[in-house]
Amino acid sequence: MSDIVWPHRHLLGIEGLSAAEITAVLDLSETYVEQNRRADKRSRELAGRTIMNLFFEDSTRTRTSFELAGKRLGGDVLNMSVSSSSVKKGETLLDTAMTLNAMNPDFLIVRHSLSGAPKLLADKVNCAVINAGDGTHEHPTQALLDALSIRRRKGRLAGLSVAICGDILHSRVARSNIHLLVTMGAHVRVVGPPTLIPTAIDRMGVDVFHDMDAGLRDADIVMMLRLQSERMSGRFVPSSREYFHFHGLTFDRLKAAKPDALIMHPGPMNRGVEIDSEVADDIGRSLILDQVEFGVAVRMACLRLLASTRANA
Ligand code: CP
Repeated sequence: MSDIVWPHRHLLGIEGLSAAEITAVLDLSETYVEQNRRADKRSRELAGRTIMNLFFEDSTRTRTSFELAGKRLGGDVLNMSVSSSSVKKGETLLDTAMTLNAMNPDFLIVRHSLSGAPKLLADKVNCAVINAGDGTHEHPTQALLDALSIRRRKGRLAGLSVAICGDILHSRVARSNIHLLVTMGAHVRVVGPPTLIPTAIDRMGVDVFHDMDAGLRDADIVMMLRLQSERMSGRFVPSSREYFHFHGLTFDRLKAAKPDALIMHPGPMNRGVEIDSEVADDIGRSLILDQVEFGVAVRMACLRLLASTRANA
């Protein structure tokens, strides 16, 4: 792996990555998918490196997969528990990060409710910063693992029609996926009620639909998103029941998409709100558990590539 050259010191978003760079991450991730399926899953590529997980928001998938990714590459991983840290005594985000930075980590993996928080830290610390989800801005490793899941099943990204459905307004997953899929030549539609679609989102190169049947027509991929009530001030939908009636994914509604359309969801799911359980659990068509599996491989690839950057080497 010594010939890898990755030009970026941090991974703060998909915006700005080229198609060749995204392809490099996905290609390297493929090798880690194989490594993760072996009995002996550990290598020594990050031996001696320290990875600190700094999550100011809850997480199951992202935090555990970054932990596994670091350990499987032979690194030392520390999970800082924000809820029992000096943040509770009023220590600021920046002071917390500078304190951890003084212990010479090689990576800070940051999730925060404020859009731009990882960038703020990246400008101050000596180590590589990976954005594990910041407010409504970006969740770059989620988009990369989504792309790997699609590419492994469909063989390509270019030319596919991808419908991203639901709460686009509050979704960092949607923003990162739109940047990635448009860069890779996919056709992206966003589908949801007007209250949950940001104005001027068409400037990101997507088509906008408010009606599910129209938005899903002939789609290759249907990506459902969670209603992110924790980011909502006020009511954006009349009720969960009505939302499911008009915007929930059921097998009946899926008939509008291509017969071999695949279903995705970044998790956590609200079953019976944005997606019917039968659809979510259909092992032939649902990529939801693939997304979780490939999340570890993609995060290994991101750590490995960032470790190869001259500034982080
Ligand atoms: N998809 C995702 O980010 O899940 P977690 O919040 O569990 O990390």
